[in-house]
Amino acid sequence: MSEREDTAIEPTSERLTELAKRRGYFFQSSGAYGGVGGFYTFGPQGAALKGNVEDAWRERFAVAEGNMEIDAPTIMPEPVFEASGHLEGFDDMLVECPECGESHRADHVVEDETEYEDAESLPVPEVEDVIAEYELVCPNCGAGLAGQAVETFNLMFATNIGPGDSQPGYLRPETAQGIFVEFPRLKEYARNQLPFGVTQIGRAYRNEISPRRSIIRTREFTQAELEYFVDPETDEPDLSSVEDVEVTLYPASEQNAEDGSEIEMTIGEAVAEGIITDQWVAYFLGVAKPWYEAVGVDMDRFRYRQHLSGERAHYASDCWDAESEIDGNWIEMSGFAHRGNYDLSKHAEHSGDRFTIFRQYDEPKTVERATVDPDMSYLGPEFGGNAQAVVGKLEDLAARDRSAFDGEAVEIDLEGESHELPVEKTGFAVEEQTEAGEHITPHVVEPSFGIDRLVYTVLHHAYREDEVDGEERTFLELEPEVAPTFVGVFPLQSDDELEAEARDIAADLREAGLSVTYDDSGNIGRRYRRQDEVGTPFCVTVDYESIEESEAQRASDDASGDTPRANGGVTVRERDSTAQKRLPIDDLPETLSAIRAGDLEFEEL
Ligand code: GAP
Repeated sequence: MSEREDTAIEPTSERLTELAKRRGYFFQSSGAYGGVGGFYTFGPQGAALKGNVEDAWRERFAVAEGNMEIDAPTIMPEPVFEASGHLEGFDDMLVECPECGESHRADHVVEDETEYEDAESLPVPEVEDVIAEYELVCPNCGAGLAGQAVETFNLMFATNIGPGDSQPGYLRPETAQGIFVEFPRLKEYARNQLPFGVTQIGRAYRNEISPRRSIIRTREFTQAELEYFVDPETDEPDLSSVEDVEVTLYPASEQNAEDGSEIEMTIGEAVAEGIITDQWVAYFLGVAKPWYEAVGVDMDRFRYRQHLSGERAHYASDCWDAESEIDGNWIEMSGFAHRGNYDLSKHAEHSGDRFTIFRQYDEPKTVERATVDPDMSYLGPEFGGNAQAVVGKLEDLAARDRSAFDGEAVEIDLEGESHELPVEKTGFAVEEQTEAGEHITPHVVEPSFGIDRLVYTVLHHAYREDEVDGEERTFLELEPEVAPTFVGVFPLQSDDELEAEARDIAADLREAGLSVTYDDSGNIGRRYRRQDEVGTPFCVTVDYESIEESEAQRASDDASGDTPRANGGVTVRERDSTAQKRLPIDDLPETLSAIRAGDLEFEEL
């Protein structure tokens, strides 16, 4: 049995980045051409870990919740982003160094060097004033930034669809828009019934001014988003399944208070005390916390933080972030936003399509409706090409304010100019109508996960250093559910018989659905270290005793007339404790599968 002792861990980001590159988790892309900031390639281990995290997300937020999953294009035409507000308002503040020419996020420069915590919410002139007042300097070369203009910079990558520049398009800055624009069709798949949810896992693109901290802030990243459409008046979540989930919350009120701090409570208590005001947001926070724990986020380094009012995105009425602690800093892993009916209303307004759902009344209702039926032979000559717009204005006005039609003339506002029309030409009437229901624009609650930041957190929280038999060791204590490889299989040394047996065992374990790596290079200690560093939970070693035991077993089976089988013992080593146990070869697939499924503990063997 090996002797092991934990070593105290200092900030690990640098060592993790080095390990990630050396062992194939992630590294900067296009290295042969000098690399380019903000783009990372996931190597074989990273791609497997990321794939496992995505599968776990799909299982929990799509399958287990009964939601639909779609896969939309990453490039969308300009009108989509005009409607969504991204073209107008998806900006960061940029300040350029007068000496070295490097661009920086002005709000980050301010936050890093002053007591301001939420500089993003400050107006541009105020950020310029703070830079001047604090004599802030370029983080790259140290030149003064005072007096430099702070500009707004749109984060979307622009492109052209087809030859020429007649149809501008953009790489989507969030996967969400791919769901919203398809709402008129998706609602049909949901049989026009609320509530329903649509998920998507895919790439999003943001031309970040200063990508930083490896895969935490990149220019191309993966999001896993759920858009949950609800009727704001009638739909309520069943909170019973999450009300006892304990969470660490950092509400806006605590952040604003001088001696404010995080608070521990259950989801049920947070809703009852009005700390989380929206029940759907509370529901998804309750679902997400145990999921984060299951994929390996350390719950002592996890919290939900509410956005301050100036920090919220243009579409959100409330938002909580799931944050993880990384070397003393909190990073945002996901956001749980209430987007109201912002997106669907905007797409309805810009596209003219129907982004509504028909809400059936319990009983048909007879209502009075004010309608117009304008005399087009009057509107046409009077308003020319604007005649149809005038009809729209009259319809709106009739629905909103019937009294406007009480006199002889009615006033409308068209492109900033006021116009008077004779009421008799509008065909205004109030009629009784029997209606079976009404068209409503659903509200949207959105849990939005960044997969790259979660992968980084999982690796960071799993990073361990210890000493085994007097030798320093680094290992990743990854959860079996997400570890890229579940078991490594080795022959003890270079030998045809050992290698053949080890390869057979590896094939059997793969057949049982486990992810397996076979390794016969280098001494056994080095092979263990390699698997420890990539976070493989178990290693199986075939030695000469295994072969001898198999042969003895075969001989006794032959004598009894049973089918000959190789069933010697092999050594199974557990990554975290380095404890070793001897198990029969034939039992390996079942035993290791049971451990992988969480039905059996290694200590119980
Ligand atoms: N649809 C909502 C939305 O996109 P967001 O807070 O801007 O909200 C959601 O992004 C998540 O995407 C974040 O919590 C974060 O994990 C991830 N994310 C955003 N920008 C990122 C970047 N530049 N690099 C890596 N991940 C990013």
